[in-house]
Amino acid sequence: MMERNDQINKVALIGTGFVGSSYAFALMNQGVANELLMIDINEKKAKGDVKDLNHGKVFAPNPMHIRFGTYKDCTDMDIVVICAGANQKPGETRLDLVEKNLNIFKTIVDQVMESGFDGIFLVATNPVDILTYATWRFSGLPKERVIGSGTILDTARFRYSLGEYFNVAPRNVHAYIIGEHGDSELPVYSSASIGTIPIKKLIERNEQYNVDDLEMIFTQTRDAAYEIIESKGATYYGIAMGLVRITNAILTNENTILTISAHLDGEYGNNHVYVGVPAVINRNGIREIIEIDLNDEEKMLFNNSVNVLKGILAPYFG
Ligand code: 2OP
Repeated sequence: MMERNDQINKVALIGTGFVGSSYAFALMNQGVANELLMIDINEKKAKGDVKDLNHGKVFAPNPMHIRFGTYKDCTDMDIVVICAGANQKPGETRLDLVEKNLNIFKTIVDQVMESGFDGIFLVATNPVDILTYATWRFSGLPKERVIGSGTILDTARFRYSLGEYFNVAPRNVHAYIIGEHGDSELPVYSSASIGTIPIKKLIERNEQYNVDDLEMIFTQTRDAAYEIIESKGATYYGIAMGLVRITNAILTNENTILTISAHLDGEYGNNHVYVGVPAVINRNGIREIIEIDLNDEEKMLFNNSVNVLKGILAPYFG
């Protein structure tokens, strides 16, 4: 990676729709970056966002330089976050968006690379696992420097719901959703715990808890986006917070474990795919993928999810 001044953390955001502008707002509120460059095909919208955000600056915890930009300005960015593209209409799945968003991504990634960009891509647009793979292929950057938001949001939803069920803070819920960020994802209940107590044990010990409820919690987690899209047209606050979490882990060299979309190269017995798995994130991007033990059913479901993604990739990248 290019040598940069470590004191200045620069982030470019491409796509200032609901997700992008919520991300910018959360980034500013958490004081994570020093500079935020905002790019959108609708320049007027991006310029309006820049103005609006700048007016809140006086109340922000840290100074953050926010400016409108073009692809050329991506040259010395540490992270380029892509939130651009079409989103799901009620009733559409994430995978229905492939064709439209692949074309948009080719244009975006080519232009970012033409600027001389040599940092980390963080992709949020759906279908995120497919578009992260596409970004990796289009950019030619090393796989550890192309990251998708993957199942970070699904894992957050899952931890929130399990926290409600067991009446503990979501921070104390250790459980992952892995696989496609979408309909074929799966919960890893076999190693899920509350504090250090395995959820399996809690179920055995307490009559008030049962497997059916856990099954329902997962179903609600998986289908949460459909419900929100039905009620308000889009989801954005949750994913925006997740993107800031990943941004922070990168910029502060945190070495933190997050479920993101990473390129498998033999891990979990699979390769040539980007999919949601726990991974250690630091200043270099994905330091390593964590291979958690899966039981036979989880392995089968994970492989199925990988195959769903590979089936979508094949006609485009086969
Ligand atoms: C979500 O899960 C739609 O992927 C988006 O909220």
